[in-house]
Amino acid sequence: MLKLLLVFHIFTAIRNYCECHGMHSIMKLIKTNYTFGELDSPVFRKYEFVAPMDKQIQIECAFEETPNCSTNYISVGIEGKARDMVEYCEGNFTEMSAFRRMTVLTTLRQPYKCTVKVMDRKREICGASISRKIVDGIQAAPNEFPYYAALYSVQIQAVNCGGTLINHNSVLTAAHCFESDDQKENIEDTWIYLGLQSFLKYDDNPYIEVVKPKQISRHSQYNRNNLLSDDIAIVTLEKPVEYSFGVSPVCMPDKTVPEKFSKSNLVILGLGQKSEEGESSNILLKAQVDGYSEEQCNTYFKKVRKINRILTKKKFCVISPISNNMDTCPGDSGGPVIYKSNKDYLVGIVSAGLVCGIRIPSINTRVSLYDKWILSNVID
Ligand SMILES: *[C@@H]1O[C@H](CO)[C@@H](O)[C@H](O)[C@H]1NC(C)=O
Ligand SMILES: *[C@@H]1O[C@H](CO)[C@@H](O)[C@H](O)[C@H]1NC(C)=O
Ligand SMILES: *[C@@H]1O[C@H](CO)[C@@H](O)[C@H](O)[C@H]1NC(C)=O
Repeated sequence: MLKLLLVFHIFTAIRNYCECHGMHSIMKLIKTNYTFGELDSPVFRKYEFVAPMDKQIQIECAFEETPNCSTNYISVGIEGKARDMVEYCEGNFTEMSAFRRMTVLTTLRQPYKCTVKVMDRKREICGASISRKIVDGIQAAPNEFPYYAALYSVQIQAVNCGGTLINHNSVLTAAHCFESDDQKENIEDTWIYLGLQSFLKYDDNPYIEVVKPKQISRHSQYNRNNLLSDDIAIVTLEKPVEYSFGVSPVCMPDKTVPEKFSKSNLVILGLGQKSEEGESSNILLKAQVDGYSEEQCNTYFKKVRKINRILTKKKFCVISPISNNMDTCPGDSGGPVIYKSNKDYLVGIVSAGLVCGIRIPSINTRVSLYDKWILSNVID
């Protein structure tokens, strides 16, 4: 399965590379601003502008309305790709890139002048869900959770854990996702898929990124024999990923995020498994879950599992509401527990206790209490 997927990926890359074939294409790395406007041949001219990481590009063009919109226009791709481009033929316009890249294609045969400027982002990108449309249902909508990371194990030949993108080069996950104490072995065994909605529609997905880890840092207090101790790890990616509509980071919890979750906006994610056949569903699933108090959770585990005081402040429990469809079971180990408000916040990492089809609480690492550890282990 993996081999096939990787081959697809390479084909996609080649196709993108050759898109510009036959056209006079100019690639510009811009730092401040750049002005262009030409009439010399070739008439068709394609610019691919790239601003520094985390900047945006604004374009302003001035020209008279063109005589024929279907042949004379300037088109702008705000994602920096030659698709979904918007064509302008009615004169002056201004447009802003979504991320650090912008593609501009001109077929004008009349005077024009365009200026592209590098702009600072007004707001930090995090926790954005690009398609807010579909909120119900158990299947994630395309790009609904652009921070979700699937951790693929070469040995197991399957996605064995989830994770969450927190910046350009770090994925947060559970320490127990990495079996070996030999970091090199863990790195060799792992591939990270970002922007993944579905393994089935892999080839259609323009946003997917497949990256190797450069470093895997498990928490030093993590103890395999006690799943509940500091079950947190940071995977540093081999190369930083660029943000797109399909790949962008989650927000880390701040003061606006409560410590106790009631019937609140918590969501768990995972490339879940259908409980009957135990077959990987291949599609990113989501489930709304409720907070479950420390007391309730301790009582539950004491009664059912005969375990005393399972929780510390560094953990919290969630449980499926009774109304949930219990057939599907998202919430991969290591995957995110998301608090939804105006943005999506990573409040937990799924650690233990998740069983499909049964209403039992799952135990999660409380991310807010690891902010210092995360900061000191993130590599820029
Ligand atoms: C770039 O922008 C700065 C400030 O807006 C301006 O002073 C400068 O002339 C511009 N340069 C070009 C080449 O347009
Ligand atoms: C278009 O921009 C040019 C240059 O900035 C300006 O002189 C002209 O008045 C503008 N035209 C319209 C219709 O806004
Ligand atoms: C605009 O160009 C298209 C394609 O060349 C042509 O079919 C159409 O007749 C033109 N329209 C006008 C108004 O010239």
